[in-house]
Order: sequence, then C-alpha cells, then structure tokens
Amino acid sequence: MIRFEGITKKYDGKPVVSDITFEVTKGDLVVLIGPSGCGKTTLLKIINRLIKPSGGLVFINGENIFDKDVIELRRNIGYVIQQTGLFPHMTVRENIEIVPRLQKKEKAAIAEKSIALMQMVGLDPNQYLNRYPSQLSGGQQQRIGVARAFACDPDIILMDEPFSALDPISRNQLQDELADLQARVRKTIVFVTHDMDEAVKIADKICIIHKGRIVQYDKVEEIMKNPVNAFVADFIGRNRIWSSPEFIRAKDIMIPDPVCTQADTPVLRCIEKMRIQKVDSLLVTDKRGALVGIVSASLARSQADKSIPVSRIMYTEVETVSPEHTIVDILQLINSHPAPSLNAVPVITEHKLLQGLITKSSLLTTLSQQYLDTKNLL
Ligand SMILES: Nc1ncnc2c1ncn2[C@@H]1O[C@H](COP(=O)(O)OP(=O)(O)OP(=O)(O)O)[C@@H](O)[C@H]1O
Ligand SMILES: [Mg+2]
Repeated sequence: MIRFEGITKKYDGKPVVSDITFEVTKGDLVVLIGPSGCGKTTLLKIINRLIKPSGGLVFINGENIFDKDVIELRRNIGYVIQQTGLFPHMTVRENIEIVPRLQKKEKAAIAEKSIALMQMVGLDPNQYLNRYPSQLSGGQQQRIGVARAFACDPDIILMDEPFSALDPISRNQLQDELADLQARVRKTIVFVTHDMDEAVKIADKICIIHKGRIVQYDKVEEIMKNPVNAFVADFIGRNRIWSSPEFIRAKDIMIPDPVCTQADTPVLRCIEKMRIQKVDSLLVTDKRGALVGIVSASLARSQADKSIPVSRIMYTEVETVSPEHTIVDILQLINSHPAPSLNAVPVITEHKLLQGLITKSSLLTTLSQQYLDTKNLL
C-alpha cells in the first residue's frame, strides 16, 4: 500500500534519514518509534509531501507520489498531529467540515457525516459540535483531531504522537478507542510515538528507527521475542514480554526433540532407553510421527511381561497443546489437573504430529527468566 524505497533526507548536506526502505500493508497500523530526533516526523511528512526527500521514492498503491497532484494525494490522507492542529477560531463543526466543504460536498451529506464522526470518536454531537476547541479538554480535542482526519474517508491516516500531551488515563482510553475503531474500519495507519507501551497496544507492526535508519521492522510479537540488537532490546525494555505473556507460545518454550519411542517397541527396550537418556517417561509415536501415548518408567517397570509392545501398556488419554497455545493456556491446563498427573505436556500439530514437550522444569526455566538479566528473552 505505502512503499518507501531508499528514502533519504538531508539538511545542509547532513542526512537526517538515510536509505529508508519498507512497506506498509493495506489495513495495517504501523508504528514508527525511536528516540527524539531520529526522523519519525520527517518520514511521516514525506508521505503527504510536506517534506521533499533528497533521494528515493514513495509509492502508494504502486503509484509514485511525486508524480501525483499534491492536493489529490492529500485528499486521500488524513493527518493528526500532536497539538491537534484545530483552528481555535472555528467551532468543532467547522474544524471537522473544513475539507469536505472545500470539496463542495453536499451540505446535508456533510452534516450527516459530522454526526457520524462525532459518534465514532465517542462525543455527543449535540453537546460538542458548536463548541470552540478551547471549551474542550485535551482528550476531547484529540478526539476531534482524529474525527477530522477521518472526515474525507481517506484510505491512509498519518498520526504524529497524537496522544502524547494527554494524561495517562485519557491516553489509555484513546489508545483503546483507536484499537477498537481500527478493528472496525481497517484504515492504513502510520502512527508515530516515543512510547513502547502505546506501540505494543495498538500496532500490527513496529518500525524501530535509530539515527535516521531502520533498525528493525517486524510484527510486535517478533520484535519482543527476537530484538535484533542491544539497542532494540533496551528500547523495548528487556522484560517487556512478561507484560504480554500471550506472546509467549508453546513453540517458543518447548523442548523441540523430546525422547520418543515407537508404538511397537518392547517394554524392556523402553526401560533401557529411559535409563540411558535419563528421563522418567517416553512419548510414544506411530510411524508418521503422530503422538499415540505416553509411558512412565514406573509403569514400564511394574509390567511383568516386558516383551510386549509398549502400545499395550501406554497411557493414551494425554493432555496436549498446539504450538500456538500461550504460556497462560499451558499454566491453566496444568493447574486444572491435580499434580502429579500432568508432569509434562506434549505439543502436537493439528494432525497430531509431535512437535515438542513442555515439562515443569522447562516452564520454570522460562518463568524465571524475567528475574534474570538475560539478553535473549526466550
Ligand atoms: N528544517 C530543518 N532543518 C534542519 N534540520 C531539521 C529540520 N527539520 C528537522 N530537522 C532535524 O532532523 C532530525 C529529525 O527530525 P524529526 O522531526 O523527523 O525527528 P523526530 O523523530 O520526529 O523527533 P521527535 O520525537 O522529537 O518528534 C532532527 O535532528 C531535526 O533536528
Ligand atoms: Mg516528531
């Protein structure tokens, strides 16, 4: 949808952003984040051509934006800035309707749209449309700023630290509302912030910028799990993943190649294998690698005839999880089964193929990482 190709901006020969290449998919909310002065606002303003780059290209839906009529381009891009940019001498209605009126849209349609926009941002149209910005709280002004950006129903919305001037409570509320709104309208949004909590809450993808260059651009979950370097790890906060445990999945914490045996292996061989491998249970799979049961050392040893295949004695009612289940799901599963029945949880695909094993000790190792200063979180 929006594609940056080798964008560079220099002031007096000094680059402030360099060789920026990335793409924002239609319907995604991408957050640009980085320290003050790293070039976030510059990148945003290049999209609506408030700033002319020194080199490189930007495409929207495959069209080079520098070939387009600038008015035409901006008509399809809503823009919300930190200080709201509301005109103080105009009422809320006039602020929202300014562009639609310039476009000479039909009066009744404009008025109807204003009511819908006010409802969209959670403000009563009857109460607020005729007020002036100074008669609104900071949070209400921000909401009007958002409503105005949506007034022409653009495909793209650019938001430059729109909530940074607000107190934490209004800020949180507006973040929630933006996330809800975005789930409904699915605009393509580029959102600038300093605040990692804000980014994690609202972003589909995060683009981390440092000194005018992209250091990492990825899904929120990926960035939290695999920061590319110490700058990113420090920037996101090393233990941040623990405030979003739903991002920690079975596939991240499982032992990937647990000790297994085939269903037709004699019990005696299973006992030998457990002894050599120093484990107290074996996962039993069929020829395809699908999990069919589990056998413990004590069960195997208590068997009088140790020449029979393990499939005759194994336990088959095994609780399992999928690779995508979260650590929260796994802890709940374990807690809902009285110890010691569930010492380990196999991880299997939807076709029952064995992927790994989560043991109580692997869980403990994962959980204790939040108290250790580790570079790699998982
Ligand atoms: N007109 C200008 N002339 C010279 N330098 C400029 C100009 N505009 C911006 N810069 C410089 O470009 C760099 C990037 O600025 P930009 O506004 O994009 O940063 P930012 O990441 O948005 O920062 P902040 O988080 O503080 O808003 C800064 O070092 C800034 O001083
Ligand atoms: Mg800025």
